[in-house]
Amino acid sequence: MNSHYSILFLFSLFVIMSLDGFVSCSEERKVYVVYLGEHNGEKTMKEIEDHHCSFLHSVKSTATSKEDVKSLLVHSYKNVINGFSALLTPQEADMISGMEGVISVFHSDPYNIKPHTTRSWDFVSLLEGTLSLLEGTSLINSREELLQNASYGEDIIVGVMDSGVWPESSSFNDEGMGPVPKSWKGICQEGVAFNVSHCNRKLIGARYYLKGYEAHFGPLNETRDFRSPRDVDGHGTHTASTVGGRRVANASAIGGFATGTATGGAPNVRLAIYKVCWPIPNRSLAEANICPFDDIFAAFDDAIADGVHVLSISLGYIPETTYYTQDTIAIGSLNAVKKNIVVACSAGNDGPTPSTVGNVAPWIITVGASSIDRVFSSPIMLGNGMIVEGQTVTPIKKRRLHPLVYAGDVEINGTTTSNTSGLCLPGTLSRNLVRGKVVLCGIDGIVASMEVKRAGGVAAILPLTNTSTEIQVTPFLYPTTVAFLDGGITILTYIQSEKNPTATLLPGKTLIGTKPAPVMAPLTSKGPNRIDPNILKPDITAPGLNILAAWSEASSPLKLPEDRRVVEYNLQTGTSMSCPHVSAVIALLKSVHPDWSSAAIRSALMTTSTPNNMIGTPITNAAGNDANPFEYGAGHFRPSRAVDPGLVYDATYTDYLLYLCSQNINLDSSFSCPEKVPEASNLNHPSLAIANIRGSSRTVTRVVTNVGKDNSTYVLAVRSPPGYVVDIVPKTLHFNKLGEKRQFNITLTTQNVEMTNEFSFGWYTWSDGVHVVRSPIAVSSSA
Ligand SMILES: *[C@@H]1O[C@H](CO)[C@@H](O)[C@H](O)[C@H]1NC(C)=O
Ligand SMILES: *[C@@H]1O[C@H](CO)[C@@H](O)[C@H](O)[C@H]1NC(C)=O
Ligand SMILES: *[C@@H]1O[C@H](CO)[C@@H](O)[C@H](O)[C@H]1NC(C)=O
Ligand SMILES: *[C@@H]1O[C@H](CO)[C@@H](O)[C@H](O)[C@H]1NC(C)=O
Ligand SMILES: *[C@@H]1O[C@H](CO)[C@@H](O)[C@H](O)[C@H]1NC(C)=O
Ligand SMILES: *[C@@H]1O[C@H](CO)[C@@H](O)[C@H](O)[C@H]1NC(C)=O
Ligand SMILES: *[C@@H]1O[C@H](CO)[C@@H](O)[C@H](O)[C@H]1NC(C)=O
Ligand SMILES: *[C@@H]1O[C@H](CO)[C@@H](O)[C@H](O)[C@H]1NC(C)=O
Ligand SMILES: *[C@@H]1O[C@H](CO)[C@@H](O)[C@H](O)[C@H]1NC(C)=O
Ligand SMILES: *[C@@H]1O[C@H](CO)[C@@H](O)[C@H](O)[C@H]1NC(C)=O
Repeated sequence: MNSHYSILFLFSLFVIMSLDGFVSCSEERKVYVVYLGEHNGEKTMKEIEDHHCSFLHSVKSTATSKEDVKSLLVHSYKNVINGFSALLTPQEADMISGMEGVISVFHSDPYNIKPHTTRSWDFVSLLEGTLSLLEGTSLINSREELLQNASYGEDIIVGVMDSGVWPESSSFNDEGMGPVPKSWKGICQEGVAFNVSHCNRKLIGARYYLKGYEAHFGPLNETRDFRSPRDVDGHGTHTASTVGGRRVANASAIGGFATGTATGGAPNVRLAIYKVCWPIPNRSLAEANICPFDDIFAAFDDAIADGVHVLSISLGYIPETTYYTQDTIAIGSLNAVKKNIVVACSAGNDGPTPSTVGNVAPWIITVGASSIDRVFSSPIMLGNGMIVEGQTVTPIKKRRLHPLVYAGDVEINGTTTSNTSGLCLPGTLSRNLVRGKVVLCGIDGIVASMEVKRAGGVAAILPLTNTSTEIQVTPFLYPTTVAFLDGGITILTYIQSEKNPTATLLPGKTLIGTKPAPVMAPLTSKGPNRIDPNILKPDITAPGLNILAAWSEASSPLKLPEDRRVVEYNLQTGTSMSCPHVSAVIALLKSVHPDWSSAAIRSALMTTSTPNNMIGTPITNAAGNDANPFEYGAGHFRPSRAVDPGLVYDATYTDYLLYLCSQNINLDSSFSCPEKVPEASNLNHPSLAIANIRGSSRTVTRVVTNVGKDNSTYVLAVRSPPGYVVDIVPKTLHFNKLGEKRQFNITLTTQNVEMTNEFSFGWYTWSDGVHVVRSPIAVSSSA
């Protein structure tokens, strides 16, 4: 499955038929969300619902009965978010969007369904240690200190919107934890195989949202998922345990790889589960779930009212079709940020194609994915003594020499074409020619591994099909080693030059620190930001390649019917895995700095992150090139530095509304945009993006707040983006007291730059000798 889910709205034609015929069959009804802003004033639940129904009444004929109108209503958002979702025709939706008090009306476009071509199946690795990555040994101690200072997150409640939870996992035991925080107002919602006894002092709340899903698809097929917060898929259990799993000794992936202590980033944080993702009807469970927008909105409405402090959301959509006004994650997050809840989201798994980053609203912390310094090494020894690098998390029991063949030479005549030869497609390999041999296929994938097994091969060697430097490991059912592309070519050349080629597969070993990390994961979505290129996205990167965390026991590592293994811990890859790493650190920062705003926490995370890897050279991408801020944002997070950033770039809810004015959007009915709207680039963000410098120079303003110490002086350092000159005034900032603010102006001037849409990257820092407060710059000109 793919770890970064799609969200979609489908035409719900089949629902029409069930509406007692009062709706003409020619009308196409879809689920629309109607957003009315925030609730103000005291109203009963009944009054709110009546108000929502009144919109539906006004677009139906007066003859329509109350019950018929109410049957169109899907969700009525009653806590914080004022709005509803309903089955409407496009004409009705249009009429409602023109009514007084309506901020936005939107439905999902069926093209918003994202085909999940990158299959990040399942992966092995240790969580322990990943947070200390790049901090050096001395800083590992400060991470422990940060955890202690934050009481391991005990006072903080993190809401996780995902596919639910497997509550029996050891990661969710509540041994030794104190009572549930008094501020908590949520519930443990009962359902199939889930009752109040499944919540505890660790899993303090759980709810599920299904109305939107069922309005789209009809009733949930209960042989495929539980009508309750219980997780079948595994993804929700994985993300929740990455944020807040307890320390569990001796956790390992199947086959004993990566044995060690599994732990969430904030092991005592309280978890509140909001299940919004469900299986697509009639499709394989191995496919990603879907998470309807209007159900997500209902989860936001509850989570904000329940009293979560942080929301961790590893869900996404195709960015170019989903603007702020049509995106319940963006609108829901804005409502959350207003209440000082911090929201972290995954950037998406559509990289390395440019302009694929999602969840780009500036009030969201958007997280890309990168590797950790761990590989599952399984070298392949050829008969001529050459050793080719490989990786596996499938146990290879014996080190034995076997005959080696290339799949293209052992196919059943007529089953392949020149295009498909060597790909180990189902039914193509000859049992007579494969039995007892190691087979080199021309492609990486579960299907190839299974075909080699079917034909009686002892093991498969699957090379990558491009020059990626990173391997996403898969817990194959049968002995299989994945090689790099050049290794595959080496093996093929050897086979072709040898009469009796042989190979010995060596058992896999977990190696740490043998190769520089982080490297950006090949699939991590990239900037520039499609919705607004003047906001740099993603914000940051964190571990998301081959991450070990808890899993659902209703699923299997591969989520295929053939795979009957049940595991407590499993490997996954994607920005879904990196987002909860950051959410955990947000929880720790919230605990240590309860007075910090959402923007201050973002700033602390970003300005203390690093663009370098553990050997001090620039972070690279999987293609082997230096990565840039469109891949990692400000860089790789460094939790123990984020707790003491020196200065922060703060922003308020009103600043975000002003920013929205620059986009001609107003999402708050109690606010009016000023006549002179500030430019988007002036949002007080810890990064700076200017998509079109327009003319020869451009000036933007920033304000920093001192959160370090009294009497400190910060001096400037700048690296101008090639082709531009960056001038910052003033060049030193002096603060007498904590909490003081200082303004500075940044002027970018073009210098011998060709007018192109290509972005150029630089940075600037403020430093007092102790803190280094770093901001990335991305700028382009336009013809
Ligand atoms: C932990 O708290 C102590 C006492 O306030 C402080 O001196 C120390 O710097 C803190 N450590 C971290 C990593 O936050
Ligand atoms: C809740 O479920 C557990 C485990 O299935 C069961 O033992 C228990 O009796 C149930 N409790 C209630 C109150 O239904
Ligand atoms: C429900 O799911 C099961 C298992 O995938 C399938 O066999 C069955 O046909 C489904 N039922 C419906 C009504 O789709
Ligand atoms: C971990 O497992 C090993 C082997 O099963 C056992 O010897 C050891 O005591 C276990 N350690 C812990 C902390 O449970
Ligand atoms: C799933 O398959 C069942 C049985 O074939 C069918 O009745 C149902 O309409 C299908 N559901 C969807 C959403 O396609
Ligand atoms: C395919 O055909 C060739 C030529 O007829 C024959 O030599 C070879 O053995 C056949 N291969 C298989 C797998 O049957
Ligand atoms: C093989 O691929 C080429 C180019 O992609 C295509 O034109 C051709 O039709 C394919 N041949 C077969 C037999 O599929
Ligand atoms: C390698 O190829 C795959 C499939 O074509 C693609 O998804 C992936 O992004 C590529 N990786 C790199 C580093 O180019
Ligand atoms: C800061 O400097 C002022 C004036 O020089 C001095 O009075 C004050 O004690 C200093 N404060 C600290 C915390 O050093
Ligand atoms: C920054 O520019 C603004 C607008 O031009 C100006 O009002 C302000 O004084 C400048 N601030 C500094 C520190 O130069």
